[in-house]
Amino acid sequence: MNENQKKVWVTGASSGIGKAVAEKFAKENWKVAISARRVELLNEIAKNENIFAYPMDVTDQSRTEETFKKILKDFGKLDLCIFSSGTYERKSEKGLNVDNVKKVIEVNFLGIVGCVKAVQEYFQNKKSGHISIVSSPVGYRGLPKSSGYTASKASLNNFTQGIYFDFKKFNVRVTLISPGFIKTALTDKNDFKMPFLKDTNYAAEKIYDGLVNKKSFEIIFPPQIAFIYKIFQILPNKVYNYLINKFVNR
Ligand SMILES: NC(=O)c1ccc[n+]([C@@H]2O[C@H](COP(=O)([O-])OP(=O)(O)OC[C@H]3O[C@@H](n4cnc5c(N)ncnc54)[C@H](OP(=O)(O)O)[C@@H]3O)[C@@H](O)[C@H]2O)c1
Repeated sequence: MNENQKKVWVTGASSGIGKAVAEKFAKENWKVAISARRVELLNEIAKNENIFAYPMDVTDQSRTEETFKKILKDFGKLDLCIFSSGTYERKSEKGLNVDNVKKVIEVNFLGIVGCVKAVQEYFQNKKSGHISIVSSPVGYRGLPKSSGYTASKASLNNFTQGIYFDFKKFNVRVTLISPGFIKTALTDKNDFKMPFLKDTNYAAEKIYDGLVNKKSFEIIFPPQIAFIYKIFQILPNKVYNYLINKFVNR
């Protein structure tokens, strides 16, 4: 075992952003544990010599905790976590579908809370390390026809900012990752033109650079989305509601 090699756990790594991020870290010679539910996809990605598959469902808390223990046993240590699992059903989002809202909150919010819980004691005892959470800029303010997804990301943004303080006391870094539109299976369901759409390699480069080379609390990209959302955050409700009603209320 190479003690100097850096080690990362990526969830939501069977496809999309998580997969591209796992492959980027592996290319940079990190040892990478990948998790998601689809075992065949994970095994395919784990053909890379630096990547190892640990299937799990984030809605099963005891399995999440077992998975983390297994990774720790196999890897010996962990430097960084990138929690990127998430779900989005555009059709169900359009109405107020209580079952959909519950499911989305269970995966996107509670699933990540469960992952953080699984690693909490380890990082707090170690007094070093880094936890990062893939949320979304849409969590900053409400949007039409998005009953569960934006609410799940709003919860995640708030949660991530909260634990930033709790972990800082233990010298553990917490980072919020806010990607704009990235072409993945999740956004392929969208039936509107996505502004400033980027590919997963672009997202992986930005995430790697932000986590490894920079120190900011939030990694938000591309710059156009970062700019728009910084403005959205400070607009009075009257102006924000007018703009969204006029330009986004599809
Ligand atoms: N694409 C974008 O434009 C965009 C923008 C902002 C934020 N995001 C966020 O980025 C993250 C990744 O999304 P993506 O765009 O890369 O979509 P994606 O390709 O659909 O990836 C979602 C990942 O989450 C995993 N996942 C879903 N439910 C899970 C569960 N119950 N347990 C464990 N893993 C689960 C999926 O794997 P399995 O199905 O194999 O479990 C998959 O690996 C999500 O949190 C999403 O909200 C995406």
